[in-house]
Parts: sequence; C-alpha cells; structure tokens
Amino acid sequence: MAASTLSPATPSQLCSSKNGVFSPSQALMVKSTRTQLAGKEKSVKITCQATSIPADRVPDMGKRELMNLLLLGALSLPSAVMLVPYGSFFVPPGSGGDGGGTPAKDALGNDVIAAEWLKTHGPGDRTLTQGLKGDPTYLVVESDKTLATYGINAVCTHLGCVVPWNKAENKFLCPCHGSQYNFQGKVVRGPAPLSLALAHADIDEGKVLFVPWTETDFRTGDAPWWS
Ligand code: FES
Repeated sequence: MAASTLSPATPSQLCSSKNGVFSPSQALMVKSTRTQLAGKEKSVKITCQATSIPADRVPDMGKRELMNLLLLGALSLPSAVMLVPYGSFFVPPGSGGDGGGTPAKDALGNDVIAAEWLKTHGPGDRTLTQGLKGDPTYLVVESDKTLATYGINAVCTHLGCVVPWNKAENKFLCPCHGSQYNFQGKVVRGPAPLSLALAHADIDEGKVLFVPWTETDFRTGDAPWWS
C-alpha cells in the first residue's frame, strides 16, 4: 500500500519525498497523480513540515495599527469636509445668530445699530439695508422716531426690479413697468400682482435683526404669499 503523510497546507510549510523538496500544493498534485496510478507504483512517502519565518519578517502590530489609523484619517477628513456643506443645506436660512434672526447690514456692510441709525434717519425715512437671504429691505422710521417692527422687501413682485422709495409721493414706485406700492409696501397699482414682502425688524442688544414674517399680512389680512 502507498503511504503518504500530508498535513494542512500553509505558506510556511515545505514537503519532501525521495524526489526532493517541494511546496504543499505540489505535494497535493503528487498525491493526485499517485492515486490515479494506484497499484502500479509501490509507495511514495511525502512528509511536510513547518518551516520557521525569520523574525524580521513577522508583521509589526504597532506599525500595522499606525498605518490603519493613518488610512482612517486620510479617508475621514475629506468625508467630513464634504459632509459639512451638505448638512448645512438642510439648515433654514435666517435661523442662525443669537436671536434667531439675520442682522440688518447698512450700505457699508456693517450691522445696523438702532440708536445710531435713528440719529441720522428721521421720521418717515425708508432706507435700504441688506435683509433676509441678502434681499434689499427697507428699514422704516415711524413718525414718533422709532423703528417700525417690520421691514419691507424692495423686490418688485412683478418681475423683480428693486423698487425705490419716492418721498414726495409717499409711495414705492417701480421704474420698470410702473407698479406702485403705498408707504407700507401694499400694492396699489399693477402690473405687480402682490404687495411687497414683509420681515420682522427686531432689536436685539441694540442691533436690528430681520426675522421671517410668517403671520397674517396686516396690510391685506391675507396669509403671507412669501412664506
Ligand atoms: S418689475 Fe416692477 S413693475 Fe415690472
């Protein structure tokens, strides 16, 4: 009977027989061939034994962990950079800031300080500032020299021209197609179909903040079309 000794094949093993030294996979081929020739050949004894791996080729666990950490960092950083703007897409505009509003900016881009503003803007004044989403928005000074609690969006509801304030006529007159709005921005002549949008003008720690207007439009009694 043919006799062979085969142990589980691993890369660290060598096998030997009368015909020389070879790898475990070669030993398996020899075994298969010998099986086909069973009875015609007496015996081929194959012995496999483990060989030792040089110490300098043993994987260094410390280095492997360091490489894993470096790889993780290299993948995480760009992912985080991409996720921040993606996440900010879902944050509603105007919801930031201490008071939950958007600071009004003057023509120079500075925050509007209510007390300072009233020193240079008298009763009845309507001056453009930068409002919600960067829209030009009028700050209104009431007849009692206080700031109105609302700002008026200057974007015409017809085709989007910025509507100037005409003090002599006490109206907003659109130069593009002649639409007219009263002193509060309510449409009084077309072709503009709707009144100018409103925003709350709050004062927080002396600064003027615009906050979205979601309540009924006090000029028309209707729900706000812009909200
Ligand atoms: S854009 Fe103002 S009337 Fe047409």
